[in-house]
Amino acid sequence: MRLWKEGEVEQRKKWTSLGWERSLLLVGALAVGVFMAANSCDSTKTGAIGPGGTITGGAGGVGTAFAGDDAVLSGAQSIANGRKVFRFDTFGDEAFWGGKLRLHEAIAGSANGGVGPGVSPKTALAVGLKVDAEAVPADVAAGIKNGTVNLDDPATTLALLKLNAVVGVTGFFSSTGGLQSMGIQCALCHSTVDNSFAPGIGKRLDGWPNRDLNVGAIISLAPDLSPFTTALQVDDATVRKVLGAWGPGRFDAELMMDGQGFRPDGKTAATLLPAAFGLAGVGLHTYTGWGSVTHWNAFVANLEMMGIGRFFDPRLNNPTKFPVATRNKFFNVEREVADDRITGKLGDLHIYQLALKAPAPLAGSFDAAAAARGKALFNEKAECYSCHTPPTFSEPGWPMHTAAEIGIDDFQAKRSPDERYRTTPLGGLHTRAQGGFYHDGRFADLAAVVEHYDSFFKLGLSGAEKADLVEYLKSL
Ligand code: HEC
Ligand code: HEC
Repeated sequence: MRLWKEGEVEQRKKWTSLGWERSLLLVGALAVGVFMAANSCDSTKTGAIGPGGTITGGAGGVGTAFAGDDAVLSGAQSIANGRKVFRFDTFGDEAFWGGKLRLHEAIAGSANGGVGPGVSPKTALAVGLKVDAEAVPADVAAGIKNGTVNLDDPATTLALLKLNAVVGVTGFFSSTGGLQSMGIQCALCHSTVDNSFAPGIGKRLDGWPNRDLNVGAIISLAPDLSPFTTALQVDDATVRKVLGAWGPGRFDAELMMDGQGFRPDGKTAATLLPAAFGLAGVGLHTYTGWGSVTHWNAFVANLEMMGIGRFFDPRLNNPTKFPVATRNKFFNVEREVADDRITGKLGDLHIYQLALKAPAPLAGSFDAAAAARGKALFNEKAECYSCHTPPTFSEPGWPMHTAAEIGIDDFQAKRSPDERYRTTPLGGLHTRAQGGFYHDGRFADLAAVVEHYDSFFKLGLSGAEKADLVEYLKSL
């Protein structure tokens, strides 16, 4: 396999050593400034950026550093707004999760006006939901530590929802305090916490995939699954079987398009939850390259979260490939302009997504000397670089490959418009080791990924070289 001619690789290497590493320093310096500005106008802490470039109500020094620079300041404001959307906006999807599935009733339990046993904090944590420690007041935190807050009682879950402390889930309460409805956010699947307070409780880590989250188990709690049985034209038991097969860290974004719950080998068709960081500069998004970040955000907000907005993608109007989407007219979701709760937020959300950098590797988590040798292998002998081109680690342009080009089956590729796999950006791999690598986690660890490439591309790597390559991957 040789996607790049020798001369072209040489050219790129020159560019790499002279160009991007140096310019990164410059971009890095600028980014620090923007990041500080964005932080200082965090909606919960300070005011907005005023005309003329001063940040009102915040740490003034940073704001004035960019005084008059409208592009930097509007970018920072968008990042702050977009973060709020990513973490807290349901786009009106409570009409689906609460209104139709009645999931809030299962969470509350019969003792609190709902149905069944309810969901205690312990159960919620067991299905991978996370608690934002910064939203928990000191007295409640102390109560959790000393055991006076009962983590076996669904009423405690309701209290946490009232505090807006359950990552990615918003409860809607009546004036008398009863849970009336609930909705979900992007953060549900694409954020986790750092476990700094306790397992499952800590500071938010936006963009990190929550590989503990059992979305299928959570949806299965719903008293009414008829929105799924109706759309998919299957019975309740079939929907439960599909959801039950997902397991932790997975979701099937194509199920409601093509109705395929299982692969030909009988395994779940769900994919792993991907990282939502390190995406700036990457040409196409999702494992199978459905579109840009903002295309996909509109797709998910309308068609998966079932928020209230407008969506258009005529590629879904294809009865053979996407029968469910075609029947349900997902290719052209129309709304009154006044009702649209999604479209106006896509710009800020997009900018926030692109601002999320891949996190640095954990200190001491890799051998630096081996990683340096691995880097040389990645860029030369192993030819990883021809597809995973730094610094995005995906090809600039149209980063798409047929299944045959990477030596795997084409089941998931065929479920997408272009029928290819997108070259995954490789930053922050340590955040998504749980569940394995590739879209379906078929390779248990990085060593297995390298083993696959070594045999498929006949790279002839020695055992030591494979180990070096793994150390380099861990350092990204
Ligand atoms: C129920 C879980 C879930 C929710 C909620 C969710 N996503 Fe995703 N997201 C996924 C899955 C699964 C994929 C992979 C889909 C695929 O490849 O087919 C994905 C893919 C993505 C990608 C592409 C990442 C890449 O590598 O290119 C982005 C960006 C993204 N989501 C952002 C968002 C945003 C923004 C929201 C809120 C509007 C959101 N997601 C809501 C599960 C979710
Ligand atoms: C022909 C292009 C191509 C080449 C060459 C290539 N990759 Fe990939 N790589 C891909 C694609 C496409 C995917 C996504 C596969 C999937 O999700 O099913 C991927 C996925 C990965 C992943 C998994 C990332 C994740 O989060 O799941 C790793 C790690 C990786 N490649 C490392 C390498 C290494 C190391 C090499 C060199 C030995 C290499 N790749 C060579 C195209 C390529």
